[in-house]
Amino acid sequence: MLTIKTSSIEDAYQIHLQIPEFENRVPLEEFRKKLASNPDQRIIIAYHDQKPIGYMVSYDRFKDGSIYCWMTGVIPEARGQGALKAMMLDLIDWAKNKNYQELKIKTRNVRRAMLNFLVKNNFNFLEVEQRKLLKNHRILLIKKL
Ligand SMILES: CC(C)(COP(=O)(O)OP(=O)(O)OC[C@H]1O[C@@H](n2cnc3c(N)ncnc32)[C@H](O)[C@@H]1OP(=O)(O)O)[C@@H](O)C(=O)NCCC(=O)NCCS
Repeated sequence: MLTIKTSSIEDAYQIHLQIPEFENRVPLEEFRKKLASNPDQRIIIAYHDQKPIGYMVSYDRFKDGSIYCWMTGVIPEARGQGALKAMMLDLIDWAKNKNYQELKIKTRNVRRAMLNFLVKNNFNFLEVEQRKLLKNHRILLIKKL
């Protein structure tokens, strides 16, 4: 059974370390720093039975009435079972209760599963930040809550 629980940043980071696509790993210290200066935050873990399989870290980055989903991932062997969907629903519920009006998220051209998810779930494209490699262009998406 899939469940979602709030978590410490240290526990969420343990799952971050198991996502092979994140090869240039953001150090735990950067997670801590970002979150320390942005106290309105939601850190969650998805569990399959008792096993932690995914994480999502969100915070009030833009101070414009939107909540920002900063990092998320599901371990490879647990993908395709709705963990991302469940974490996103949890975030949306929480954000609506806190009167956020929009959800923002940044991803990259290379993150095709994530892009699929975002398009299918009615996010709109807002901005593209160019990088040297096309696959690394950052894409900012937004959804009204
Ligand atoms: C993106 C990621 C979090 C998806 O997690 P997941 O738990 O497998 O996703 P879900 O099972 O909840 O899938 C939800 C929807 O996303 C889309 N999706 C997920 N994986 C997909 C894939 N491999 N190809 C196409 N669409 C996909 C589908 O629309 C799916 O809905 P459906 O099953 O009804 O078709 C996971 O693949 C991952 O961790 N990838 C590497 C890290 C990453 O890219 N993180 C995002 C950074 S912004």
